[in-house]
Amino acid sequence: MCGIVAYLGKSDAPSVLLNGLRRLEYRGYDSAGLAVMDGGRMVVAKAPGKVAALNDRARADWPDERFNRAAAGIAHTRWATHGPPTEANAHPHLDNSGDIALVHNGIIENYRALRSRLEKLGHVFHSDTDTEVLAHLIGECHHGDLFRAVCDALHQVEGTYGIAVMSARDPGKIITARCGSPIVIGIGDGETIVASDAAAIIGHTRQVIYLNDRDIAEITAETVSIRDLDNVPVDREIAQLAFDASAAEKGGFEHFMLKEIHEQPEALRNAIRGRLDFHLGTAVLSGMGTSPRDLAEISRVVLLGCGTSLHAGLVGEYAFEDLADVHSEVQQAAEFRYRNPILGPHDMVVAISQSGETADTLAAVRESNQKGAFVMGLCNVVGSTIARETGRGVYLHAGPEISVASTKAFTCQVSVLLMMALKLGRGRRLSREEGIRLAREIESIPDLVAATVRQSDHIAEIAAHYAGHEHAFFIGRGPLYPVALEGALKLKEISYIHAEGYHAAELKHGPIALLEKGTPVIALANAVPGQDKTLGNIEECRARGARILGIVTAGDSRVTGLMDDFIEVPPCHPLVASVPSAVALQLLAYHIARHRGCEIDQPRNLAKSVTVE
Ligand code: F6R
Repeated sequence: MCGIVAYLGKSDAPSVLLNGLRRLEYRGYDSAGLAVMDGGRMVVAKAPGKVAALNDRARADWPDERFNRAAAGIAHTRWATHGPPTEANAHPHLDNSGDIALVHNGIIENYRALRSRLEKLGHVFHSDTDTEVLAHLIGECHHGDLFRAVCDALHQVEGTYGIAVMSARDPGKIITARCGSPIVIGIGDGETIVASDAAAIIGHTRQVIYLNDRDIAEITAETVSIRDLDNVPVDREIAQLAFDASAAEKGGFEHFMLKEIHEQPEALRNAIRGRLDFHLGTAVLSGMGTSPRDLAEISRVVLLGCGTSLHAGLVGEYAFEDLADVHSEVQQAAEFRYRNPILGPHDMVVAISQSGETADTLAAVRESNQKGAFVMGLCNVVGSTIARETGRGVYLHAGPEISVASTKAFTCQVSVLLMMALKLGRGRRLSREEGIRLAREIESIPDLVAATVRQSDHIAEIAAHYAGHEHAFFIGRGPLYPVALEGALKLKEISYIHAEGYHAAELKHGPIALLEKGTPVIALANAVPGQDKTLGNIEECRARGARILGIVTAGDSRVTGLMDDFIEVPPCHPLVASVPSAVALQLLAYHIARHRGCEIDQPRNLAKSVTVE
């Protein structure tokens, strides 16, 4: 989604800002812009499309000296919400005087009322955006002190924001603030860099400060001073950024998505390492902050998430019920937050979010905290808002996920949920022997995934048969039903093929009407309980001319002759089978999208972290 970079140093601000924006490209966006201070004047360049277009525009418009000399600037990648992705709607936006520039992530909900008030005062607007209203409002509140002006303006807005503001009247400083949209400040040597995502800061410094909601900071190249919106100074600790710069490079792969699919055995090893106790047959997840007694008192597990994280939760639901004998349910976070959920201290809420910044999941966490539930996070990004606001939980340690389509986060989420269920199960009904057996199964996940990844070339060949279709169905049952949903999501988001995931039994309740000769049906037909029924459902599809691609267990003779194509995954426990099967479908989606020539890492209209409702 939208990205912010702001910089104060000695020189070269445009180059630093453009590099920072490139690091944020993976988040998804449709226009970009930057403003720099040049000899006391605010200079702005914007362009629809990619950062490369902005770079060309700025270099064409600005003399070389401006690139080398400018020491301060703010920049933005915009993911359109209010108005199309045009140059006029791209950020930065200026106030009425043209002296103040602002970049903004989030949504100003009362922008219409503010705009009409400002128009009556003579302000003239040039865009359709909510953001421009905030720039004008800051200008209206500016009576000599930029910090004060931003503070006063923010008191009048409703909604969410992460912002960076710069004024020609206050050179050498930038004001940044957050409420619901992340801001991280990197403290370098004679330079300060602000961003909405730590990826833009690496290469400059590892020392960072994460702002909390309602924090507002005044920064110079040498200093950072933070207050809350009531103007009371606040202390925020300096954290050490643990970000491997190589994670932001493709490392010889054609796409980040393919690299991240291949990284999964290692990512899974990192997620699992040191977390299984083979003596007691349990999982060691100290971040959950629970004693066996606490665990015994949990009467319900509520798993929250959106998109791929929601699908991981659906696999988790089976695991908690099967292994821990505890009532478990999955809720779509956007729905949950508004439905007045019934929660209490014996409900364990697990918020699943790769980014830890998804607006709806965060709001659901806040609602769960409010209701006194036992809330924990399952996040990948260390220090993210959900991780901090839950205060307890488990990190994935999957490493940065750059591709918009989530891959390694999903498999690590499922693996960690299995470990959570094992831990909960051992506090309840699972015997030590069963626990040890399960721990061994979980330990084998990285190898199962490595065996699946090795089939990438075979899957690429199969993909050629499916790349020309415009519709596809994915079916599965039990813990493989969520994998069908996830397989369909992967395919539609990166290949733009219309794909639907269904419970295998559900097709004949309606969707089967759409099957005709050659319609692809991708069936999760692994040798797990329920397979008989799925094979029956496959026969129903075949009878109507569908082309069947099966995900099957290696060596399973029961599927012979039933499918046009198949991808084998190694034999394993039914719950664990969801992981390598999902990897097979990730590779299928990847190779189909590649055959279709799609922009795999940055699919149209999509954003990596969805920080608006
Ligand atoms: C799909 C995808 C999204 C995310 C969803 C939640 O490939 O990545 O569906 O899973 O936006 O994001 P997080 O996990 O960051 O909360």
